[in-house]
Amino acid sequence: MAEPQRLPLLEIRNLSLEFATPLGPVYALNLGGLDLYPGEVLGLVGESGSGKSLTASTVLGLLPSRRARVTSGQVLFDGRDLLRATPAELQHIRGRDISMIFQDPMAALNPVFPVGEPLLRILRLHRGLRPAEARHEALRILDEVQIPDPAAILRRYPHELSGGQRQRIMIAMAIAGGPRLLVADEPTTALDVTVQEQVIRLLQALQRAHGTAVLFITHNMGVVARLADRVAVMYGGDVVEVAPVAELFSAPRHPYSRLLLDAIPRVSARRERLPAIGGEVPDLRRRPVGCAFAPRCPLVTARCLSERPSLSAAGARQVACFHPLAAGDSRTEALA
Ligand SMILES: Nc1ncnc2c1ncn2[C@@H]1O[C@H](COP(=O)(O)OP(=O)(O)O)[C@@H](O)[C@H]1O
Ligand SMILES: [Mg+2]
Repeated sequence: MAEPQRLPLLEIRNLSLEFATPLGPVYALNLGGLDLYPGEVLGLVGESGSGKSLTASTVLGLLPSRRARVTSGQVLFDGRDLLRATPAELQHIRGRDISMIFQDPMAALNPVFPVGEPLLRILRLHRGLRPAEARHEALRILDEVQIPDPAAILRRYPHELSGGQRQRIMIAMAIAGGPRLLVADEPTTALDVTVQEQVIRLLQALQRAHGTAVLFITHNMGVVARLADRVAVMYGGDVVEVAPVAELFSAPRHPYSRLLLDAIPRVSARRERLPAIGGEVPDLRRRPVGCAFAPRCPLVTARCLSERPSLSAAGARQVACFHPLAAGDSRTEALA
Protein backbone atom coordinates (compact mmCIF):
# COMPACT_ATOMS: atom_id res chain seq x y z
CA MET A 1 0.00 0.00 0.00
CA ALA A 2 1.00 3.58 -0.49
CA GLU A 3 2.62 5.33 2.42
CA PRO A 4 2.53 8.96 1.37
CA GLN A 5 4.44 10.14 4.43
CA ARG A 6 7.55 8.52 2.94
CA LEU A 7 9.70 10.21 0.33
CA PRO A 8 8.76 9.39 -3.26
CA LEU A 9 10.83 6.77 -5.06
CA LEU A 10 10.12 8.49 -8.37
CA GLU A 11 9.35 12.18 -8.87
CA ILE A 12 8.60 13.63 -12.27
CA ARG A 13 8.74 17.43 -12.34
CA ASN A 14 7.74 19.81 -15.17
CA LEU A 15 8.69 17.34 -17.85
CA SER A 16 8.43 18.64 -21.41
CA LEU A 17 9.22 16.49 -24.39
CA GLU A 18 8.86 17.41 -28.04
CA PHE A 19 9.29 15.71 -31.38
CA ALA A 20 10.85 17.49 -34.31
CA THR A 21 8.70 16.75 -37.36
CA PRO A 22 8.70 18.14 -40.91
CA LEU A 23 5.53 20.03 -39.96
CA GLY A 24 7.12 21.57 -36.89
CA PRO A 25 7.38 20.48 -33.27
CA VAL A 26 4.89 18.17 -31.58
CA TYR A 27 4.60 19.06 -27.90
CA ALA A 28 3.93 15.53 -26.72
CA LEU A 29 4.58 15.81 -22.97
CA ASN A 30 4.02 18.78 -20.68
CA LEU A 31 3.79 16.91 -17.45
CA GLY A 32 3.52 19.12 -14.37
CA GLY A 33 4.23 16.46 -11.80
CA LEU A 34 3.86 12.84 -10.81
CA ASP A 35 5.11 11.00 -7.70
CA LEU A 36 5.39 7.30 -7.05
CA TYR A 37 6.04 6.00 -3.55
CA PRO A 38 8.04 2.94 -2.55
CA GLY A 39 5.98 -0.23 -2.81
CA GLU A 40 2.88 1.33 -4.33
CA VAL A 41 1.08 0.42 -7.53
CA LEU A 42 0.24 3.56 -9.48
CA GLY A 43 -2.13 3.06 -12.41
CA LEU A 44 -1.58 5.43 -15.34
CA VAL A 45 -4.64 5.81 -17.57
CA GLY A 46 -5.80 8.09 -20.36
CA GLU A 47 -6.91 7.80 -23.95
CA SER A 48 -4.56 6.70 -26.70
CA GLY A 49 -1.98 9.38 -27.51
CA SER A 50 -2.18 11.06 -24.08
CA GLY A 51 1.52 10.40 -23.38
CA LYS A 52 1.52 7.31 -21.16
CA SER A 53 4.16 5.36 -23.08
CA LEU A 54 6.35 8.43 -23.52
CA THR A 55 6.25 8.97 -19.76
CA ALA A 56 7.34 5.36 -19.24
CA SER A 57 10.14 5.68 -21.82
CA THR A 58 11.46 8.81 -20.18
CA VAL A 59 11.60 7.09 -16.80
CA LEU A 60 13.78 4.41 -18.36
CA GLY A 61 15.91 6.93 -20.23
CA LEU A 62 14.80 5.42 -23.53
CA LEU A 63 13.44 7.96 -25.97
CA PRO A 64 11.35 6.41 -28.75
CA SER A 65 13.03 8.25 -31.62
CA ARG A 66 15.96 10.50 -32.43
CA ARG A 67 13.45 13.24 -33.14
CA ALA A 68 12.38 13.23 -29.51
CA ARG A 69 13.95 15.75 -27.17
CA VAL A 70 13.36 16.50 -23.51
CA THR A 71 13.29 20.30 -23.33
CA SER A 72 12.88 20.70 -19.59
CA GLY A 73 12.18 18.92 -16.35
CA GLN A 74 13.47 16.35 -13.93
CA VAL A 75 12.87 12.66 -13.43
CA LEU A 76 14.18 11.95 -9.96
CA PHE A 77 14.70 8.33 -8.95
CA ASP A 78 15.68 8.12 -5.34
CA GLY A 79 16.58 11.80 -5.57
CA ARG A 80 18.83 11.37 -8.59
CA ASP A 81 17.91 12.94 -11.94
CA LEU A 82 17.71 10.25 -14.61
CA LEU A 83 17.60 12.90 -17.35
CA ARG A 84 21.12 13.92 -16.38
CA ALA A 85 22.53 10.42 -15.95
CA THR A 86 25.16 9.19 -18.41
CA PRO A 87 24.31 6.31 -20.77
CA ALA A 88 26.50 4.01 -18.67
CA GLU A 89 24.73 5.03 -15.44
CA LEU A 90 21.35 4.50 -17.08
CA GLN A 91 22.33 1.09 -18.30
CA HIS A 92 23.30 0.20 -14.77
CA ILE A 93 20.00 1.50 -13.37
CA ARG A 94 17.90 -0.24 -16.01
CA GLY A 95 17.33 -3.86 -15.21
CA ARG A 96 18.67 -3.51 -11.70
CA ASP A 97 16.82 -0.58 -10.06
CA ILE A 98 14.12 0.01 -12.67
CA SER A 99 12.82 -2.55 -15.12
CA MET A 100 10.11 -2.67 -17.70
CA ILE A 101 7.51 -5.01 -19.15
CA PHE A 102 6.18 -4.11 -22.59
CA GLN A 103 3.00 -4.98 -24.40
CA ASP A 104 4.86 -7.01 -27.00
CA PRO A 105 7.47 -9.39 -25.56
CA MET A 106 8.46 -10.47 -29.09
CA ALA A 107 9.84 -6.98 -29.73
CA ALA A 108 11.96 -7.13 -26.57
CA LEU A 109 13.34 -10.65 -27.03
CA ASN A 110 16.10 -11.30 -29.53
CA PRO A 111 14.84 -14.02 -31.92
CA VAL A 112 18.32 -15.50 -32.47
CA PHE A 113 19.01 -16.31 -28.80
CA PRO A 114 17.35 -18.85 -26.52
CA VAL A 115 15.24 -17.02 -23.92
CA GLY A 116 17.58 -18.16 -21.14
CA GLU A 117 20.40 -15.97 -22.50
CA PRO A 118 19.07 -12.52 -21.55
CA LEU A 119 17.83 -13.83 -18.21
CA LEU A 120 21.23 -15.29 -17.32
CA ARG A 121 22.93 -12.12 -18.51
CA ILE A 122 20.85 -9.97 -16.15
CA LEU A 123 21.71 -12.25 -13.24
CA ARG A 124 25.44 -12.11 -14.01
CA LEU A 125 25.51 -8.40 -14.82
CA HIS A 126 23.17 -6.92 -12.23
CA ARG A 127 23.50 -9.40 -9.41
CA GLY A 128 27.09 -10.46 -9.98
CA LEU A 129 26.27 -14.17 -10.02
CA ARG A 130 28.72 -16.74 -11.39
CA PRO A 131 27.42 -18.92 -14.27
CA ALA A 132 26.36 -21.88 -12.10
CA GLU A 133 24.67 -19.61 -9.54
CA ALA A 134 22.96 -17.64 -12.30
CA ARG A 135 21.57 -20.83 -13.78
CA HIS A 136 20.27 -21.97 -10.43
CA GLU A 137 18.67 -18.58 -9.81
CA ALA A 138 17.18 -18.48 -13.34
CA LEU A 139 15.46 -21.81 -12.69
CA ARG A 140 14.11 -20.50 -9.39
CA ILE A 141 12.76 -17.32 -11.00
CA LEU A 142 11.15 -19.24 -13.88
CA ASP A 143 9.46 -21.37 -11.26
CA GLU A 144 8.34 -18.20 -9.46
CA VAL A 145 6.71 -16.90 -12.67
CA GLN A 146 5.01 -20.30 -12.95
CA ILE A 147 6.70 -21.61 -16.03
CA PRO A 148 6.57 -25.40 -16.14
CA ASP A 149 9.80 -27.29 -16.93
CA PRO A 150 12.14 -24.27 -16.51
CA ALA A 151 15.29 -26.16 -17.55
CA ALA A 152 13.83 -26.93 -20.98
CA ILE A 153 12.40 -23.42 -21.41
CA LEU A 154 15.84 -21.81 -20.88
CA ARG A 155 16.98 -23.39 -24.16
CA ARG A 156 13.91 -22.46 -26.20
CA TYR A 157 13.79 -19.66 -28.76
CA PRO A 158 11.16 -16.90 -28.45
CA HIS A 159 9.15 -18.15 -31.46
CA GLU A 160 8.83 -21.60 -29.85
CA LEU A 161 6.88 -20.20 -26.90
CA SER A 162 3.26 -19.09 -26.59
CA GLY A 163 2.42 -15.41 -26.06
CA GLY A 164 1.67 -16.07 -22.40
CA GLN A 165 4.98 -17.91 -21.86
CA ARG A 166 6.91 -15.11 -23.55
CA GLN A 167 5.25 -12.56 -21.30
CA ARG A 168 6.20 -14.69 -18.26
CA ILE A 169 9.80 -14.71 -19.52
CA MET A 170 9.67 -10.90 -19.78
CA ILE A 171 8.34 -10.74 -16.23
CA ALA A 172 11.12 -13.10 -15.09
CA MET A 173 13.69 -10.79 -16.72
CA ALA A 174 12.02 -7.76 -15.18
CA ILE A 175 12.19 -9.12 -11.62
CA ALA A 176 15.57 -10.87 -11.96
CA GLY A 177 17.63 -7.84 -10.97
CA GLY A 178 15.47 -7.21 -7.87
CA PRO A 179 14.20 -3.79 -9.06
CA ARG A 180 12.58 -1.24 -6.77
CA LEU A 181 10.46 0.08 -9.64
CA LEU A 182 8.72 -1.90 -12.34
CA VAL A 183 7.21 -0.06 -15.29
CA ALA A 184 4.53 -2.10 -17.05
CA ASP A 185 3.18 -0.62 -20.30
CA GLU A 186 -0.04 -2.41 -21.28
CA PRO A 187 1.54 -5.75 -20.31
CA THR A 188 -1.56 -7.85 -20.96
CA THR A 189 -3.12 -6.07 -23.93
CA ALA A 190 -1.68 -8.45 -26.53
CA LEU A 191 -2.75 -11.58 -24.64
CA ASP A 192 -6.03 -13.44 -24.89
CA VAL A 193 -8.47 -13.07 -22.02
CA THR A 194 -7.66 -16.23 -20.03
CA VAL A 195 -3.92 -15.68 -20.26
CA GLN A 196 -4.44 -12.00 -19.40
CA GLU A 197 -6.12 -13.04 -16.17
CA GLN A 198 -3.25 -15.40 -15.26
CA VAL A 199 -0.62 -12.75 -15.96
CA ILE A 200 -2.49 -10.15 -13.88
CA ARG A 201 -2.69 -12.59 -10.96
CA LEU A 202 1.00 -13.36 -11.33
CA LEU A 203 1.95 -9.66 -11.36
CA GLN A 204 -0.21 -9.05 -8.32
CA ALA A 205 1.36 -11.97 -6.43
CA LEU A 206 4.92 -10.90 -7.34
CA GLN A 207 4.25 -7.27 -6.40
CA ARG A 208 2.94 -8.35 -3.00
CA ALA A 209 5.79 -10.79 -2.41
CA HIS A 210 8.56 -8.34 -3.32
CA GLY A 211 6.95 -5.00 -2.41
CA THR A 212 8.08 -3.55 -5.74
CA ALA A 213 6.69 -0.15 -6.74
CA VAL A 214 4.84 -0.43 -10.05
CA LEU A 215 3.89 2.15 -12.65
CA PHE A 216 1.10 0.27 -14.38
CA ILE A 217 -0.05 1.68 -17.71
CA THR A 218 -3.30 0.28 -19.01
CA HIS A 219 -6.49 0.96 -20.96
CA ASN A 220 -8.32 -1.53 -18.81
CA MET A 221 -10.10 0.14 -15.90
CA GLY A 222 -11.04 -3.26 -14.44
CA VAL A 223 -7.33 -4.06 -14.11
CA VAL A 224 -6.67 -0.65 -12.55
CA ALA A 225 -9.42 -1.23 -10.01
CA ARG A 226 -7.84 -4.55 -8.99
CA LEU A 227 -4.16 -3.72 -9.01
CA ALA A 228 -3.65 -0.05 -8.32
CA ASP A 229 -3.39 1.77 -5.01
CA ARG A 230 -3.63 5.16 -6.74
CA VAL A 231 -4.48 6.23 -10.26
CA ALA A 232 -3.09 9.07 -12.36
CA VAL A 233 -5.20 10.26 -15.28
CA MET A 234 -3.32 11.69 -18.29
CA TYR A 235 -4.72 14.03 -20.90
CA GLY A 236 -2.85 15.74 -23.72
CA GLY A 237 0.59 15.00 -22.28
CA ASP A 238 -0.16 16.04 -18.71
CA VAL A 239 -1.44 14.41 -15.55
CA VAL A 240 -4.80 16.00 -14.77
CA GLU A 241 -5.82 14.04 -11.68
CA VAL A 242 -4.28 11.69 -9.11
CA ALA A 243 -6.37 9.86 -6.52
CA PRO A 244 -6.61 6.67 -4.50
CA VAL A 245 -8.31 4.17 -6.80
CA ALA A 246 -11.64 3.85 -4.96
CA GLU A 247 -11.98 7.63 -4.69
CA LEU A 248 -11.29 8.19 -8.36
CA PHE A 249 -13.95 5.66 -9.31
CA SER A 250 -16.56 6.90 -6.84
CA ALA A 251 -15.98 10.65 -7.19
CA PRO A 252 -13.66 11.82 -9.98
CA ARG A 253 -12.83 15.51 -9.60
CA HIS A 254 -11.49 16.41 -13.03
CA PRO A 255 -14.21 16.79 -15.70
CA TYR A 256 -12.11 14.61 -18.05
CA SER A 257 -11.85 11.78 -15.49
CA ARG A 258 -15.57 12.01 -14.94
CA LEU A 259 -16.45 11.82 -18.64
CA LEU A 260 -14.02 8.96 -19.10
CA LEU A 261 -15.52 6.93 -16.25
CA ASP A 262 -19.10 7.80 -17.19
CA ALA A 263 -18.50 6.60 -20.73
CA ILE A 264 -17.31 3.10 -19.78
CA PRO A 265 -20.59 1.25 -19.16
CA ARG A 266 -22.14 2.70 -22.29
CA VAL A 267 -19.36 1.60 -24.57
CA SER A 268 -18.09 -1.74 -23.44
CA ALA A 269 -18.78 -2.96 -19.95
CA ARG A 270 -17.46 -6.41 -20.76
CA ARG A 271 -14.00 -5.34 -21.88
CA GLU A 272 -13.83 -2.37 -19.53
CA ARG A 273 -11.87 -0.45 -22.12
CA LEU A 274 -11.27 3.23 -21.97
CA PRO A 275 -13.57 4.63 -24.60
CA ALA A 276 -13.06 7.72 -26.70
CA ILE A 277 -15.09 10.64 -25.46
CA GLY A 278 -16.72 13.33 -27.60
CA GLY A 279 -14.91 16.26 -29.19
CA GLU A 280 -11.54 16.84 -30.78
CA VAL A 281 -8.39 15.12 -29.55
CA PRO A 282 -5.85 17.68 -28.33
CA ASP A 283 -3.69 19.32 -30.97
CA LEU A 284 -0.16 18.65 -29.79
CA ARG A 285 1.34 20.84 -32.51
CA ARG A 286 0.38 23.92 -30.55
CA ARG A 287 2.22 24.80 -27.40
CA PRO A 288 -0.44 24.52 -24.74
CA VAL A 289 -1.81 27.75 -23.33
CA GLY A 290 -4.35 27.13 -20.64
CA CYS A 291 -5.86 23.76 -19.86
CA ALA A 292 -5.38 21.10 -22.56
CA PHE A 293 -8.88 19.78 -21.93
CA ALA A 294 -10.56 23.21 -22.17
CA PRO A 295 -11.71 22.82 -25.82
CA ARG A 296 -13.70 19.70 -24.87
CA CYS A 297 -14.71 20.64 -21.36
CA PRO A 298 -18.36 21.31 -20.45
CA LEU A 299 -17.23 23.57 -17.61
CA VAL A 300 -14.80 25.74 -19.57
CA THR A 301 -14.43 29.41 -18.64
CA ALA A 302 -12.19 32.19 -19.99
CA ARG A 303 -9.58 31.49 -17.32
CA CYS A 304 -9.22 27.86 -18.51
CA LEU A 305 -8.24 29.08 -21.98
CA SER A 306 -5.60 31.54 -20.83
CA GLU A 307 -4.08 30.03 -17.69
CA ARG A 308 -2.78 26.53 -17.11
CA PRO A 309 -4.14 24.84 -13.99
CA SER A 310 -1.47 22.97 -12.06
CA LEU A 311 -1.92 19.77 -10.14
CA SER A 312 -2.79 20.97 -6.67
CA ALA A 313 -3.35 18.82 -3.66
CA ALA A 314 -6.50 18.46 -1.61
CA GLY A 315 -5.85 15.78 0.97
CA ALA A 316 -4.72 12.55 -0.65
CA ARG A 317 -6.02 13.82 -3.99
CA GLN A 318 -4.62 16.09 -6.63
CA VAL A 319 -6.45 17.73 -9.49
CA ALA A 320 -5.37 20.17 -12.20
CA CYS A 321 -8.60 22.08 -12.74
CA PHE A 322 -10.02 25.53 -11.90
CA HIS A 323 -13.53 24.06 -11.55
CA PRO A 324 -13.11 20.63 -9.95
CA LEU A 325 -16.19 18.50 -9.40
CA ALA A 326 -17.60 17.77 -5.99
CA ALA A 327 -19.04 14.35 -5.08
CA GLY A 328 -22.41 13.91 -6.80
CA ASP A 329 -21.76 16.97 -8.99
CA SER A 330 -24.10 16.89 -12.01
CA ARG A 331 -22.43 19.62 -14.06
CA THR A 332 -20.94 17.18 -16.60
CA GLU A 333 -24.15 15.24 -17.14
CA ALA A 334 -25.21 17.16 -20.22
CA LEU A 335 -22.27 15.66 -22.11
CA ALA A 336 -22.15 12.15 -20.62
N1 LIG B 1 7.77 9.12 -33.04
C1 LIG B 1 6.89 10.13 -32.83
N2 LIG B 1 6.90 11.23 -33.63
C2 LIG B 1 6.03 12.26 -33.42
N3 LIG B 1 5.14 12.27 -32.41
C3 LIG B 1 5.08 11.20 -31.60
C4 LIG B 1 5.95 10.06 -31.76
N4 LIG B 1 5.67 9.17 -30.77
C5 LIG B 1 4.66 9.72 -30.05
N5 LIG B 1 4.31 10.93 -30.55
C6 LIG B 1 3.30 11.85 -30.01
O1 LIG B 1 3.21 11.65 -28.62
C7 LIG B 1 1.88 11.40 -28.23
C8 LIG B 1 1.85 10.48 -27.03
O2 LIG B 1 2.30 9.18 -27.42
P1 LIG B 1 2.28 7.93 -26.41
O3 LIG B 1 3.02 8.26 -25.17
O4 LIG B 1 2.73 6.78 -27.18
O5 LIG B 1 0.71 7.81 -26.06
P2 LIG B 1 -0.05 6.67 -25.25
O6 LIG B 1 0.93 5.65 -24.77
O7 LIG B 1 -0.76 7.39 -24.14
O8 LIG B 1 -1.06 6.10 -26.21
C9 LIG B 1 1.21 10.86 -29.47
O9 LIG B 1 -0.14 11.21 -29.54
C10 LIG B 1 1.95 11.55 -30.59
O10 LIG B 1 1.35 12.82 -30.87
MG1 LIG C 1 1.11 3.63 -25.21
